[in-house]
Amino acid sequence: MNTDLSANTGGTDPKNAITFSNVTVHYDQLPALENISFSIPEGSFWGIIGPNGSGKSTLVKTALGLLTPSRGTVRTLGREPAALGSLRASIGYVPQYADLDFSFPLQVIDVVAMGLYGEIGLFHRVTRAHRKRAEEALRRVNMEEFADRQISALSGGQRQRVLIARALVIDPVLLILDEPTAALDPGSAEGLYGWINDLHDRNDMTLILVTHDVGVVSQYVDSIACLNRTLVAHGRPKDVLSGESLEQMYGCGAVLFGHGDVPHMVVKHGGDR
Ligand SMILES: Nc1ncnc2c1ncn2[C@@H]1O[C@H](COP(=O)(O)OP(=O)(O)O)[C@@H](O)[C@H]1O
Ligand SMILES: [Mg+2]
Repeated sequence: MNTDLSANTGGTDPKNAITFSNVTVHYDQLPALENISFSIPEGSFWGIIGPNGSGKSTLVKTALGLLTPSRGTVRTLGREPAALGSLRASIGYVPQYADLDFSFPLQVIDVVAMGLYGEIGLFHRVTRAHRKRAEEALRRVNMEEFADRQISALSGGQRQRVLIARALVIDPVLLILDEPTAALDPGSAEGLYGWINDLHDRNDMTLILVTHDVGVVSQYVDSIACLNRTLVAHGRPKDVLSGESLEQMYGCGAVLFGHGDVPHMVVKHGGDR
């Protein structure tokens, strides 16, 4: 194990949870992200939006050190992602496709305790103290009364909350949710977004939410990053969500119109320009 982390971090970045500088990421020969630069300040709530295949999940995985850029530098919690070491235990991550078989007989509390396996070790016993922490995480997602239920018996939205509790059980300083509403109907999705916003308000953490629900999310987040292989735009929602950047992002006549303070977007299919 590399114990001398300071030697290869190339300086610290204490004010930002994540910084990308001129980052390009390839799969084989194909670039999925090109020349991306931005910083996410500690404690902020960021939305990352973009159409399918625009590189949102690639960006998140690069920040977590699951992918290595071909060019540029990344700092996550002030370190190179490959050198995160023990700081990895301060990052909660709910991937886009949860690697969990929901038909398997598992109680909700056990699913949440899985978030502690990094600490406990896969084959060690979950102690009463661990169970208490899992219960506390369930409380934070308002699911405490479901602790003893089978995960298979929950609705899609409830399962998502349990997966978020599994990420929260380590008390993360950085929480990354990759399309947590993908399996939900629009009404449930909107409810989950509101609830995620409350979670950020109540907890001192940096929150990154990947989504393609532009309109709903823009009312909550501090900043939005619009991706379409390149970083089309980033900044405060009302500055970013101009017709021009969305047009560039979706490349098909995206139209944005105001609705109170909440921008709504319509994408014209088969755009005629
Ligand atoms: N494991 C992989 N191997 C090869 N190409 C990939 C892989 N994962 C993603 N890609 C490609 O990279 C691009 C960005 O993918 P992704 O980051 O998953 O986009 P998003 O999350 O915005 O839908 C897409 O063109 C996708 O097909
Ligand atoms: Mg994705």
